[in-house]
Amino acid sequence: MILIAGGTGTLGRLSIQHLLKRGQSVRVLTREPARAQDVQTAGVEIVEGDVLDVASLQRAMVGVRTVISAMHGFTGTGKYTPQSVDRDGNVHLFDAARRAGVEHVVLLSIQGATADHPMELFRAKCAAEEALRASTLAWTILRPTAYMETWAALVGVPLLTNGATRIFGGGRNPINFVSAADVAQFVALAVSDPSLRNTQIDIGGPENLTMHQVVATFQSVSGRSGKVNMVPLPVLRVASVLMRLFNPTLARQMQGAIVMDTRNMAFDAAPTRRQYPAITSTSVADVARQYLQLCHKQR
Ligand SMILES: NC(=O)c1ccc[n+]([C@@H]2O[C@H](COP(=O)([O-])OP(=O)(O)OC[C@H]3O[C@@H](n4cnc5c(N)ncnc54)[C@H](OP(=O)(O)O)[C@@H]3O)[C@@H](O)[C@H]2O)c1
Repeated sequence: MILIAGGTGTLGRLSIQHLLKRGQSVRVLTREPARAQDVQTAGVEIVEGDVLDVASLQRAMVGVRTVISAMHGFTGTGKYTPQSVDRDGNVHLFDAARRAGVEHVVLLSIQGATADHPMELFRAKCAAEEALRASTLAWTILRPTAYMETWAALVGVPLLTNGATRIFGGGRNPINFVSAADVAQFVALAVSDPSLRNTQIDIGGPENLTMHQVVATFQSVSGRSGKVNMVPLPVLRVASVLMRLFNPTLARQMQGAIVMDTRNMAFDAAPTRRQYPAITSTSVADVARQYLQLCHKQR
């Protein structure tokens, strides 16, 4: 049995499909079972639990051999933050796994996670990586770059649905985007291939694109130019500080946009991709075409 925390999320859902294809049994840990209704098919169990609630994790671990941590607190509200979910929640998950005799934990971390990163999420992921490496569990750490389905979709999809979008900051910083569909294949491989135990895999997509290039890709795929509104970096900086008082979740997302606009976010995915040639290498244009098809179907 494989327990997946984050099985209701973008990557989690895609990973479950690959695990089921390989004949694995999956248990999804969720705070809200209603959210998991469409995930529940043959071979998938749903268990109510929260990584902040240690007792719920002990119940969820019964009969589990592998744990996948594909959750995060970046968009969480109230008590759910990167510190509580990605740092402390992961430690609770690893402790419960160890006590229950779980063999292997696959941790979804993030490319560039360091102890001194300006973003709380990256610091929390770094702490989780360290805790897992220091444990007695067998581990695999996956470090993907930004998901196309999260970030490229954030600027591209409004163009398809409303004919207008917004770029936060200058939008001229090259960012590596990877498709969660590709990352899900790495998750399934990490579960089934014993040679990936006690290793870290840095995962990226085929291109480093600026947000303007992402918008241009969605424009060219859809044949629609649309209106592009800019939120200048100084405005974003002031708003992210002010927002901490009123809406810490939004403040976190604004800080994320500032980091993506100003730090080195480029990544060379080629060495890892050469090692795993069977895993697909989806482009932003591929993902834009998928969203376009979805929009056509919904009309
Ligand atoms: N998105 C990106 O660009 C990106 C890039 C690199 C790495 N990653 C990592 O990849 C993984 C998947 O990301 P995603 O974007 O696919 O996630 P997502 O769609 O935003 O879903 C987040 C998941 O976290 C779960 N979760 C949150 N708080 C929880 C808690 N207290 N207890 C249990 N589960 C909790 C949610 O489950 P319920 O709401 O059902 O409880 C949900 O399934 C994460 O580890 C993330 O940090 C993401």
